[in-house]
Amino acid sequence: MGIYVITGGTTGIGAIVREQLLEQGHEVFNIDYKDGDYCVDLSTHEGRESAISAVIGKYPDGIDGLICNAGVGPTAPPRVIFSLNYYSSIRLAEGLRPILKKKKGNCVITSSNSITNMTVRLDWVNMLLSGMSEERVMDFAQDIPREQSASCYSSSKHALARWVRRVSASWAVDGMRINTVAPGNTTTPMTKNLTEAQKDAALLIPIPTRYGQREFLDAVEIANAIVFLSSKLASGINGVVLFVDGGIDALLRSERF
Ligand SMILES: NC(=O)c1ccc[n+]([C@@H]2O[C@H](COP(=O)([O-])OP(=O)(O)OC[C@H]3O[C@@H](n4cnc5c(N)ncnc54)[C@H](O)[C@@H]3O)[C@@H](O)[C@H]2O)c1
Repeated sequence: MGIYVITGGTTGIGAIVREQLLEQGHEVFNIDYKDGDYCVDLSTHEGRESAISAVIGKYPDGIDGLICNAGVGPTAPPRVIFSLNYYSSIRLAEGLRPILKKKKGNCVITSSNSITNMTVRLDWVNMLLSGMSEERVMDFAQDIPREQSASCYSSSKHALARWVRRVSASWAVDGMRINTVAPGNTTTPMTKNLTEAQKDAALLIPIPTRYGQREFLDAVEIANAIVFLSSKLASGINGVVLFVDGGIDALLRSERF
């Protein structure tokens, strides 16, 4: 059985991924700031680097899978959104790539189906992907008004999805795969405190697979896709953005894929 490292495996989608992998007999190492096997704040540079060192120290012979799932939602402060959602995911993937390579492992990153919506700011996406230092991006983000957190969120996840597609070929050359899952609105601790007005806004376009039910997706539906992509069943899939959103993306962008 394999060794999987997950970030944000304590609650919500990540907790179900963790349970499913454990049920399948895998060893799972959860990096989270609450109740993790390794407790650390991944929104900080120090936190990420210590997590990478801890994993390499614990599994020097390699790991089979990495699931970068920790993230905050569109109401968090802009700096945390950029540092956790974008920088922690790509830094963990890059930092653990050498030990994934040892076992020809794979990586799955949790993005969001908001990557195609109108809140995405392509100038912010380009800033994140430009290689500009995180410190400078953080200085910039400090001045972004809190009301624009939703744009920070969709832009951070859009940049993440593009990054995955850009690096996927080089991962494949090293015998590895990297993919991303793009969930729609899902019932988890992240969405449980939404006001009725926020929920109405989120359901302005009803989820096709929930039509007439005024409800979000279940976390297990997202977890199933993550576990599938991280398994050998998905050996032919690389560089994919898999929308797990009940058909919203297909509804809104039927002609684009
Ligand atoms: N719930 C949704 O509607 C939805 C939709 C699209 C994408 N997503 C994405 O799914 C992923 C999982 O979110 P979820 O909905 O299960 O929410 P969640 O809040 O239940 O899970 C987030 C996990 O990340 C951990 N975490 C948060 N901040 C951290 C930090 N600074 N350092 C380390 N760990 C930290 C939390 O403890 C938790 O275990 C996130 O990346 C989120 O952006 C969620």
